[in-house]
Amino acid sequence: MKVNLIENDFKSVESELEIFIVDDLENCEDKDILENIGFEEKDESIAFLPEIGRIYVGFEEHDYESIAIAISIAIKKLKTTKFKSAKIELKDLDLKALVEGTLLGAYEFNEYKSKKKKSKKQELSICVPKITDEIKDVFEQSKVISKAVNKTRDIVNTPPADCYPKVMAELAKKIAKDSNLECTIHGEKYLEKNGMNAMLSVGRASIHESKLIHLAYKPENAKKKVVLVGKGLTYDSGGLSLKPADYMVTMKSDKSGGSAVLGIMSAVAKLNLPIEIHGIVGAVENMIGGDAYKPDDVLKAKNGKTIEIRNTDAEGRLVLADCLCYAQDEIEDIDYIFDYATLTGACVVGVGEYTIGVMGNDTILKRDVVANTLQAGEYATTLPFNRFLRKTIKSEIADICNIANTRYGGAITAGLFLDNFIYEENKDKWAHLDIAGPAFVEKAWGYNPHGASGAGVRATLQFFKNLN
Ligand code: BES
Ligand code: ZN
Ligand code: ZN
Repeated sequence: MKVNLIENDFKSVESELEIFIVDDLENCEDKDILENIGFEEKDESIAFLPEIGRIYVGFEEHDYESIAIAISIAIKKLKTTKFKSAKIELKDLDLKALVEGTLLGAYEFNEYKSKKKKSKKQELSICVPKITDEIKDVFEQSKVISKAVNKTRDIVNTPPADCYPKVMAELAKKIAKDSNLECTIHGEKYLEKNGMNAMLSVGRASIHESKLIHLAYKPENAKKKVVLVGKGLTYDSGGLSLKPADYMVTMKSDKSGGSAVLGIMSAVAKLNLPIEIHGIVGAVENMIGGDAYKPDDVLKAKNGKTIEIRNTDAEGRLVLADCLCYAQDEIEDIDYIFDYATLTGACVVGVGEYTIGVMGNDTILKRDVVANTLQAGEYATTLPFNRFLRKTIKSEIADICNIANTRYGGAITAGLFLDNFIYEENKDKWAHLDIAGPAFVEKAWGYNPHGASGAGVRATLQFFKNLN
């Protein structure tokens, strides 16, 4: 799907189909027809009138989400037709919502269908009488953002046989080449040499070598320095604490945090952000085998802390522990450090499958992350740390345990585990985003498809845009 911005009067633009997004039928040319067929000005309602070449979609609120859902419904309808071109008038609609709703709504993952749907060359023209610099900027930025989200979706949706740590590293190299970023890939020798025994142990039973990916964007005019760390479990079988069959399905999505970091890094140069941005991904596969790490093992992380393993399925926090240490050892004077992870089923239970759980030590930063996430069209809420939950991950034999001794608050105790690997000077600069819910949903929602949604990408790019 291609989106164009056209400086012209709506009526004068040539197109096979017209799209109208309406919240009121009063002044509508086709009011009678629409009323006769029972069309309502509600979210998710659609009327396709092929004889006159028009699609009507309803909306209730003048906000990003309603508009993005409305246009995505129209575009999905367009995709089922033979029409090659459609047009819509910008009027007072949110341009960002129109562009992102179109490109995110048009996304399909067909790589593994033997009968490939020929992707028709269809296009949407957004008509506006006068294109100002601001309109042009929003248009271009929204296209870059949508592309980054769809790239993330592609990586996450790719099956584990085709996307393993080395493949993620290759993807990172390609992104670096395309955007002129620095790219360093470390293998297991490096992990061993640098005391990253937590991350190393998780990947030990896999036939695939673990990779630590480090991308860096360093513009000359950088005013801030941000580090993004992503959980890149290309598959999470649970390890020896094996997942039950039903829970293992979809665990190709355990690389969503790392994939979001790659997607974000693919956009930062194109958005010309005046920020130094590092993207670090721990790409690892959690498998079983004679060499697997075990419950009862004690692992030493990069910062010297010892971890008693009581469940090998709580592996993401082990990978992140070492990656967070690596980030803080390698990068000086960090302004913000965010991690992205499909870390806990508990987060999904707690806040539902559409919402990111945001944790950390600084109330203002957490609120800021949530506010930017909402502004970007994603859902997020904060989850609170407390001193009593902090005690539940104490170990009798090591410094800390990789699971809590309580059944409750699993998303928060996982966040508190990570806090053990945040250095004193960075405590208030860190936010942990548990994206286990929205990263991968097995039914379409709004303009998001079945499967990967690209959670965290728009949220972070919005945070960057508002950072000064
Ligand atoms: N990757 C999972 C978490 C997950 C669950 C992500 C569902 C997406 C959907 C993680 O590694 C895991 O298995 N966590 C365990 C932790 C437990 C053993 C303390 C969980 O949530 O059950
Ligand atoms: Zn797990
Ligand atoms: Zn996992």
